[in-house]
Amino acid sequence: MTKHQIIIGDSKNIKQIPNKSVHLIITSPPYPMIAMWDEIFSRQDPEIKMFLEDGEGIKAFYRMHELLNRTWDECDRVLVDNGFVCINIGDATRTINGDFQLYSNHTQVISYFLGKGYSVLPDILWRKQSNAPNKFMGSGMYPAGAYVTYEHEYILIFRKGGKRLFKGTERELRQKSAFFWEERNVWFSDLWEIKGTSQVISAPKTSRDRSAAFPFEIPYRLVNMYSIEGDTVLDPFAGLGTTNLACMAAKRNSIGVEIDPDIADLALQNIAVPADVLNAVIDSRIKRHLDFIDSLPNDKRERCYKNGPHGFNVKTQQETAIKLDRVSSVTKEENTVICHYE
Ligand SMILES: C[S@@+](CC[C@H](N)C(=O)[O-])C[C@H]1O[C@@H](n2cnc3c(N)ncnc32)[C@H](O)[C@@H]1O
Repeated sequence: MTKHQIIIGDSKNIKQIPNKSVHLIITSPPYPMIAMWDEIFSRQDPEIKMFLEDGEGIKAFYRMHELLNRTWDECDRVLVDNGFVCINIGDATRTINGDFQLYSNHTQVISYFLGKGYSVLPDILWRKQSNAPNKFMGSGMYPAGAYVTYEHEYILIFRKGGKRLFKGTERELRQKSAFFWEERNVWFSDLWEIKGTSQVISAPKTSRDRSAAFPFEIPYRLVNMYSIEGDTVLDPFAGLGTTNLACMAAKRNSIGVEIDPDIADLALQNIAVPADVLNAVIDSRIKRHLDFIDSLPNDKRERCYKNGPHGFNVKTQQETAIKLDRVSSVTKEENTVICHYE
């Protein structure tokens, strides 16, 4: 069984989550200096609005990061030693007072975690190519006033201390939670080309009409890459609960924290899905694996190992204990969704 909670609240203060009780943090915060988040930041620190109105872009930018840092402080408190933090963040380009510049959000986040003594691990560039005809900015074909178009975001990865050690039952769960060889080859590359997801919020009377959600594939990969079955994953900027959904499919527990009550309500509705929706993820993962094995030339297929629980071929011995459990039921109790597995 796994539990998935949505807490309505401010992640700068999540007292209800005990110290060192979370194994992995996966999140995408509001990006400083992206106009859609001006209001949410200004509500938390009214001087931000003043700086923006006065054309003091850099001052507003630092203040926004001071707010995010208070959430990162809480993340540090609740994360176990050797736990991971994965943060999806994009930089912002913006013209303030006629002055166009890049506000480098990812460097601020890196410097926060460096300062806290975390190990900075190799990051992933998430590339979302745009086909918009007006995507190039500036002086067109004339030098030197054109600007490079930003079509990537970062997935920053940090570790609190040294390598995680797995003992006793955790060792077995780790083997069960292994990923396939061919998934490793894609997931552990530094460039992910994944299409963005629909940003439309169709529910009436919500505080915003864009979700800012990331595609399910992003937290689903990260959950599988940096945690094992039964771990607890926190998303301190939960939005529609995409991280929670990924955890439900991957048999991890999850907690999402969302400051906007309308969005938190939607998140709860969003994650209370029928079991079939989660099983479709698991089934298509298995199908992709079987297709991969089928695509191997005979001599390579003959050198495969047998996976015990599922009985199919796998490339390496490390994959022989992988067990992908299908979901048997999803039930909702107040702000928590509970998943049972077959
Ligand atoms: C970029 S969105 C996250 C979207 C999410 N990854 C998803 O897939 O739906 C950031 C979310 O953080 C929320 N937020 C902003 N400040 C917050 C805070 N201090 N505490 C909790 N949530 C906050 C916003 O309302 C917004 O829903």
